[in-house]
Amino acid sequence: MKVEQSEALVTISDLNVTLGGKQILQHLHTWIPRGRITALIGLNGSGKTTLLRAILGEIPYQGRIQFHCGHAHRPGHPERIGYVPQRLLFDTNLPLTVCELLALGMSWRPIFLGVSKGLRRKIVDLLRRVQADHLADSPVAGLSGGELQRVLLALALEPLPELLLLDEPAAGIDFRYQGEFYGLITRLNEEHGLTILLVSHDLSVVSSSAHHVLCLRNGQILCEGPPREILSGERIAEIFGEDKAVYAHSAHAS
Ligand SMILES: Nc1ncnc2c1ncn2[C@@H]1O[C@H](COP(=O)(O)OP(=O)(O)OP(=O)(O)O)[C@@H](O)[C@H]1O
Ligand SMILES: [Mg+2]
Repeated sequence: MKVEQSEALVTISDLNVTLGGKQILQHLHTWIPRGRITALIGLNGSGKTTLLRAILGEIPYQGRIQFHCGHAHRPGHPERIGYVPQRLLFDTNLPLTVCELLALGMSWRPIFLGVSKGLRRKIVDLLRRVQADHLADSPVAGLSGGELQRVLLALALEPLPELLLLDEPAAGIDFRYQGEFYGLITRLNEEHGLTILLVSHDLSVVSSSAHHVLCLRNGQILCEGPPREILSGERIAEIFGEDKAVYAHSAHAS
């Protein structure tokens, strides 16, 4: 792998992660191109979420994850990385409105003092970026899956990150809204030059939205390159085995 540093936002060398006595990522070498959408694909358990968590500095690892952002990133201090996780680790039955939830993440002011007018304006502007400004006063507990994903995306965009990590952000969202959601991701990439690493099992989305594809198998990079190369029938068979359902799906993708 020969990568010019100016092309890469992140370079990863000899990354090893062991969790619960099991080696999950093994001697992984790869890179994330700057200003592009990279899709991370692979079977369940291949290590996709673990790779995202290592990039975030949330788990211990050996090897090197280097950010070429112009300022130092230290492990455990993921400055300017936005993250929408695969599973929420908080109770979504929070007795808060969307505006209050965002205010918690955007202000040092205690929430019981209310949201100032200036901050509310900022929050509504932020929600508008993900077409969710109409949800500002909705209770978080009442949001649909798709609405909640948009709100979480808004939270990950403030402040605008240099790298946005999305772990199956549209799983569980109906197909109509999925199209809108990925349209939004593409727009964020085009308008802000945002570098995005996106985990997805949906190969049609990968084929239409991603510029670069990384494929993991058993904690190692099996292949990487442009979608048209990686998503060819031969490669797909290598990645997913002879699974007819995946074939059928990818056939629609081209
Ligand atoms: N804390 C942990 N302790 C032990 N094993 C773990 C831990 N976290 C993850 N694993 C294991 O590491 C492997 C990779 O998990 P990971 O969540 O990264 O997979 P994934 O590619 O994101 O899968 P999926 O597509 O199902 O989300 C799995 O076998 C998982 O059981
Ligand atoms: Mg995962």
